[in-house]
Amino acid sequence: MKNIVILISGTGSNMAAIVHAAEQQDWERRLGARVAAVVSNRADAKGLAFAREHGIATEVLDHKACASREAFDAQLAQVIDRHAPALVVLAGFMRILTPGFVARYAGRLLNIHPSLLPAFPGLHTHQRAIEAGCQFAGCTVHQVTAELDVGPIVAQAVVPVLAGETAEQLAARVLTQEHLIYPRAIGQLLSKQ
Ligand code: GAR
Repeated sequence: MKNIVILISGTGSNMAAIVHAAEQQDWERRLGARVAAVVSNRADAKGLAFAREHGIATEVLDHKACASREAFDAQLAQVIDRHAPALVVLAGFMRILTPGFVARYAGRLLNIHPSLLPAFPGLHTHQRAIEAGCQFAGCTVHQVTAELDVGPIVAQAVVPVLAGETAEQLAARVLTQEHLIYPRAIGQLLSKQ
């Protein structure tokens, strides 16, 4: 069985979209894959309850309880490795990862970012796209490498920026696309493994 471990920090709507896709498309039978665990660095992450309701193992590892970024990532890797993952999926996991962590999961570490990379790495992507006068915005699924938001692009979706819309409105429309492209990209990767 190819185990998927999903890392979240908050709402977990991308994680939920992946879990729904796995259920509806019967990834266990069709791809020999399943979401084995959801791990959060925040105990109050809303997505944890959703994962539990769907029978998925959950783990919380509070980064504030760790002495350093390296110590947190080392503990996180221990938690993840218990599930022997074929794929580690960052889904709104708001932590910068150490190069050692990224190297450990090279080739099996994915992220989704709410911009059309390489435009707007980092935070506040939608506000920045509006302020720059972009006519299009979107989201990117990419392989994670040591440099933040820079790894090879796996999938993108584009949405038009509407006249006068707020960053929140744009974010909501982009998020709808995230929920489509992330499960699809993961399914395609798993089918090639
Ligand atoms: C998503 O929009 C995701 O692209 C973004 O956080 C949101 C998480 O939502 N990720 C980043 O900004 C990573 N740099 P979710 O918790 O509902 O999936």
